Amino acid sequence: MPKNSNISNPVIRRLPRYYRFLGELAKQGISKISSRELSEKMKLTASQIRQDLNCFGGFGQQGYGYNVAELRCEIGKILGVDKGRKAILIGAGNLGTALAMHINFEKSGCKLVGIFDSNKSIENNPLGDLTITDISKLEEFCKKHNPEIAVLCIPKSATKDIVDRLIALNIRCFWNFSHYDINIDYGNIIVENVHLGDSLLTLSYGVNNLLSEE
Ligand code: NAI
Repeated sequence: MPKNSNISNPVIRRLPRYYRFLGELAKQGISKISSRELSEKMKLTASQIRQDLNCFGGFGQQGYGYNVAELRCEIGKILGVDKGRKAILIGAGNLGTALAMHINFEKSGCKLVGIFDSNKSIENNPLGDLTITDISKLEEFCKKHNPEIAVLCIPKSATKDIVDRLIALNIRCFWNFSHYDINIDYGNIIVENVHLGDSLLTLSYGVNNLLSEE
């Protein structure tokens, strides 16, 4: 498989959707699909799909289409879903609890191995399969277990200090829900910021357009 570091961001952003759609097709017992059929289901053009998948060497065969299971497996490899990388979650409040309970980390290539919070009154409380650890034990835990990913569900004001500590522990991958912009000055790090409010604003734009036409 080619090295995937030069793939454009928009293509990477579409891959999880391909992966999800192909999983649904496989569940329905569909084993083969043409780029035209896939494009109709995904509301993309067939040429967009062919271009996207060609970035990875292309998986289809002229006149045959795509083998659903094979294509899903290849995209899964590109996304790293089989890696099982260790992740820790910082901040076990409302959002952290919801993520710990409802996100299937393992399906996305990670395994949640620790949950930390600074609130002593919830220390040792169970959360999913884990218990909450006091944030003072972060260094000891990371030196022992070597997690690679941190999920940040803490207030903006607390985030810089925590990120400094995590980077000192060689954690360089962040799924960041805090509203703090993790500075790219840290160098070789990867940050996926999630702002549900931005998604709502995008909806708001569409709503405004739709309703002001009426
Ligand atoms: P919350 O107040 O319920 O939970 C925050 C948790 O972080 C608390 O349990 C607190 O004890 C803990 N905490 C604070 N400082 C800490 C530190 N230094 N180390 C470890 N734990 C620490 O808040 P909620 O609702 O869970 O939201 C968490 C953050 O996520 C907030 O800053 C909020 O603005 C943000 N948020 C972001 C969203 C997004 O789409 N990105 C959506 C909702 C909330």
